[in-house]
Amino acid sequence: MITFEKSNRIKSLSSSVFTQVTLAKQKVLAHGGRVIDLSVGSPDLTPAPHVIEAMERALRDPGNYGYPLVPLPELKEALAAWYQGRFGVHLDPRDEVLVLMGTQDGLAHITLGLANPGEAVLVPDPGYPIYHAGPVLADAQLAYMPLLESNGFLPDLEAIPPEVARRAKLMIINYPSNPLSAVAGRDFFEGVVDFATNYNIPVAHDVTYSELAFDGYRPMSFLEVPGAREVGIEFYSVSKTYNLAGIRLGFAVGNRKILAALAEVKSHVDFGVFRPLQYGALAALRGPQDQVEETRRSYQRRRDLVIAGLERLAWRIPRPKATMFIWARVPLPMNSTDFAIRLLEETGVAVVPGVGFGPSGEGYVRIALVQKEDLLEEAIERMARSSMLQALPAGMKA
Ligand SMILES: Cc1ncc(COP(=O)(O)O)c(C=O)c1O
Repeated sequence: MITFEKSNRIKSLSSSVFTQVTLAKQKVLAHGGRVIDLSVGSPDLTPAPHVIEAMERALRDPGNYGYPLVPLPELKEALAAWYQGRFGVHLDPRDEVLVLMGTQDGLAHITLGLANPGEAVLVPDPGYPIYHAGPVLADAQLAYMPLLESNGFLPDLEAIPPEVARRAKLMIINYPSNPLSAVAGRDFFEGVVDFATNYNIPVAHDVTYSELAFDGYRPMSFLEVPGAREVGIEFYSVSKTYNLAGIRLGFAVGNRKILAALAEVKSHVDFGVFRPLQYGALAALRGPQDQVEETRRSYQRRRDLVIAGLERLAWRIPRPKATMFIWARVPLPMNSTDFAIRLLEETGVAVVPGVGFGPSGEGYVRIALVQKEDLLEEAIERMARSSMLQALPAGMKA
C-alpha cells in the first residue's frame, strides 16, 4: 500500500461546517428520524415536457454520440435571442456566447485562465462556495469582499484596499445572490464598471437566479450597464430557470477576450456538453415559457409560507425579492453551526450554517425552499414544537 497525502489546496477546501451538518443528518437518520432537507439548493420541481421530449428525440439519433467539440450554433443563437428579449442586451453568438457544463464549470475554471498562483481574486463573502474554491484550485489568493446587511449585502468597493485592487486579476459578483438572496440595482453595477475600469480588473457576474424573482421584480443583467462588456462577463444557466440542474448546461456571455481565456482552459479539460442535453436547453430557451412563471410562483408561495411560519415563532426575517433561499439571522445566542446542528437534532430540519459560505456569514443560516409546501409546513410545525424555538427571547428577535 502506498502512502500519500491530499494536496494542500484540497485540504484547505474541506469545510468542517458542511461535514458536521452531513454527520448530524446521518445521526438523525440512524436513529430512525426523518430529515426535511432545506440545505442543498437542488430544484425539486420538474422540467417542462417539451424539454424532455427534445432530449428523448436527440438521444435516439446515433449522430449525437461523437465528441461534441463544437456546440450547436442554434443553441448559442437561442441564448443570444433570449438575452436580447429579456435584457435588451445584444450578443454575437459567434464569440460572445460560450456553452458550459453548468455555470459551475465556468466558475471553477475562470481563475485558471486569468490569474497566476498568488495573484488575488476578489470574491463575495459570504458567497456560493465555488467562488472561493475556483481561485483556491488555481492557487490564487482570495481577497474577501464582506457583504454586510448594513450595506444591503453589497460589497463596499471603496473599502477594498488599493494595493489589493491593483493585484486583483478577477472580481466575482452575484445578484440575485446565493446564499444572501440579496439583489443589486443599476447604481451598484455602474460602480463595479468604474472600479473595474480604474483598476483593470475583469469582472464575472453570476446571474443564475435572474428568473426566480418575486412580486413583479425583474433583476437586471450586468451587461445592461454601459461599459460592462469592456470589463466583464456574465454566467447564466438553465438549471434554475427551467428546473434542469441535472443536465449540466450553462453559459458565459460578454467580453470576448475573457471568454476566450475561459474557453482555452476548457479546451484542455473537456470536450463539450453531450448533444442531447444541448437540444434540451435549446427547447427550454426557444419553447413556451409559461412553466417559468409557474416555477416563480411556486418559490414565491414557499417563501411566503416559510416567512409567515417563522414569524409566528417570533423569528422575523426580511422577505427576499429573489432566489430559492431565505437568509435568516440566527435567532438565539449561539453561532450558526451550533444552531443548525441543534435544529437538525431537535427537529430533523436541515439548513446550512451561514459561516459555511465565508466568515461574514456567521450569525445567519440559509434555508433552501426546495421542498413542497406540505413538507415546508411540517418543518415549521416541527420547529414550533421544538424547545429551542418555542419561546424565542424577545431580545433575540431578528
Ligand atoms: C449562485 C449559483 N451559481 C451557480 C450555480 C451552479 O449552477 P449550474 O447548475 O449552472 O452549474 C449555483 C447552483 O446552486 C448557484 O447557486
